Amino acid sequence: MYRTAAKYYDLIHQTHTGDIALFNKLAEDGRGLILDIGCGSGRLVIPLAEAGQTVTGIDNSADMFAVAQKRMAEEAVPAELILADILTWETEQRFGLIIIGMNTLMEFDNQTVLDLLKASAKLLAPGGKIVIDVIQPFLMAALENEDGGFAEDEALDDDGRKLPMWSGWSADHAKQQVQIKWRIQDSGQKVEFSNLFHYRYLDQLMDYLPAAGLEIDAVWGNYDQEPYNEESERMIVSLISISA
Ligand SMILES: C[S@@+](CC[C@H](N)C(=O)[O-])C[C@H]1O[C@@H](n2cnc3c(N)ncnc32)[C@H](O)[C@@H]1O
Repeated sequence: MYRTAAKYYDLIHQTHTGDIALFNKLAEDGRGLILDIGCGSGRLVIPLAEAGQTVTGIDNSADMFAVAQKRMAEEAVPAELILADILTWETEQRFGLIIIGMNTLMEFDNQTVLDLLKASAKLLAPGGKIVIDVIQPFLMAALENEDGGFAEDEALDDDGRKLPMWSGWSADHAKQQVQIKWRIQDSGQKVEFSNLFHYRYLDQLMDYLPAAGLEIDAVWGNYDQEPYNEESERMIVSLISISA
């Protein structure tokens, strides 16, 4: 999916910055090593490392990995990047804060989401936390198909060029799936790509936790850590090990 999207990923998400302060704050609680699962372009890894945190980012997309590597080299950021699938990655390291950041959990279907939670739980240091950040599921459930009526927006690329962007979606709510689509006008060319997201409600997510040896520590509805409810913008779930 990220073959085409990698080039435009940071452009599309350039206004999504509120999570950086939250993860910095959680990191400053003295949790030790940080793992960013599905680190993508390094959107979180880079500011966390710049703030002095010891961060490892892992991603299984070679295209996203290349974007992150390039950014880190340009900005001389001292973080570790791993190109691997989190479901099969082996390491002796254990992490005090594991981030499954902006919507990454939604890329895992109902078969693999438990594997992701188990793999993450295995990597937790004693007393550590896993923090998942996804789009509010009730917001996803309310999406009607918007194939024809794409909302137009304009993003500025690194060279300050305005690139018209459209995004839309097609939803299969019986399966709790939404295909989000993007179109970008770049130098006269229309570039298109999409990504399939699986949304799940808090109680559905909680059903997976015992098998992964995890339990809820807190649930927030936005990056200011306000309590979660059905009207919240985000669903941010902090998990701890049951044995903690
Ligand atoms: C929605 S993006 C989020 C990127 C980044 N965390 C951020 O906040 O901007 C999800 C990322 O997860 C990665 N990913 C998906 N499945 C993965 C897996 N099994 N192992 C490692 N990375 C994965 C994708 O390649 C993609 O870069």
